[in-house]
Amino acid sequence: MPKEVVLSGIRPTGFLHLGNYFGAVKNWVRMQHDYNCYFCVVDWHSLTTHPDTKELRNNVHRLFGELLASGLDPEQSVIYVQSDVPEIAELYLYLNMLAYQGELEKTSTFKDKVRQHPQNVNAGLLTYPVLQAADILIHRAVKVPVGKDQEQHVEMTRNLAERFNRRYEAVFSMPFAFNYGESLTKILGLDGKGKMSKSENPMSTIYLNDDDDLIRKKIMKAKTDSGPTEKGMPKPDYIENLFTLMQLVSRYDVVAAFESEYEACSIRYGDMKKQLAEDMISFITPIREKAEAIQNDKAYLTKVIKTGEQKARESAAETLKLVRKAMGLNYV
Ligand code: TRP
Repeated sequence: MPKEVVLSGIRPTGFLHLGNYFGAVKNWVRMQHDYNCYFCVVDWHSLTTHPDTKELRNNVHRLFGELLASGLDPEQSVIYVQSDVPEIAELYLYLNMLAYQGELEKTSTFKDKVRQHPQNVNAGLLTYPVLQAADILIHRAVKVPVGKDQEQHVEMTRNLAERFNRRYEAVFSMPFAFNYGESLTKILGLDGKGKMSKSENPMSTIYLNDDDDLIRKKIMKAKTDSGPTEKGMPKPDYIENLFTLMQLVSRYDVVAAFESEYEACSIRYGDMKKQLAEDMISFITPIREKAEAIQNDKAYLTKVIKTGEQKARESAAETLKLVRKAMGLNYV
């Protein structure tokens, strides 16, 4: 049986942080063994909010370095840049004819962006989900590993696919958001205010390219309190988050020791953070160094980007052929 097709995308708007790593990339790495995976660096999407392209080249190279260092394997998966695949833009055009202004204006991500950048509400921002649908449908993907905030976009992709199938011919299978269930880890910012993200306070976000001292500094500054005063007290979410991070990077017995100190109300968060910082450094350093080495090996990077482009275009061209035929756009 052919493997199911998976697609996901990531915007090259900054460096990878622990939220991306544990919330997304780690799942992608796992999926590459079970599925026929496409992972796309969506530079066109980043233009909707980052029109300045000065940093783009460096960001894309850095992101490739980080994705490969995190375990994405260009031999197993197709890893490519969106703007290398013009077929996506063509499909986006067709899908735009099936997308209604009303549903686009209702999308929560659009409403958020309008609030954040009221002076730059461009048409690309409005049709952002249509471009995302084109990313997914161009490979006729059926599984889309994304977080909760992207589920509405996947639902819109299904609506567009269904409209296309009904109006023309049944070309598309329905894609669904996917994760391995309980393994999708949510990481909060170290200030305890919402999820770890690139746009918030940089001191509360740990990046894969942070050096050892910066990691130490950020973790030592993480929000804590004076500790539990009674047995069985539930952990506040910023404390839970430190335990979550520790579970991800520390040895089992180390975590267990701090858990029982919490239970016994004898925990000293300063000690816990010192331990967490050292374990985090041991975890991140090899990834950071590998990412840097890949980013500096331009010959290898070029080879990976080119190979991804070629494989992605092959699959995209097949879909586009079916699409054009279904729509009757063939005149010779
Ligand atoms: N919108 C996604 C985000 O902000 C990125 C993205 C673009 C994407 N195209 C995609 C994700 C296709 C999954 C599938 O994170």
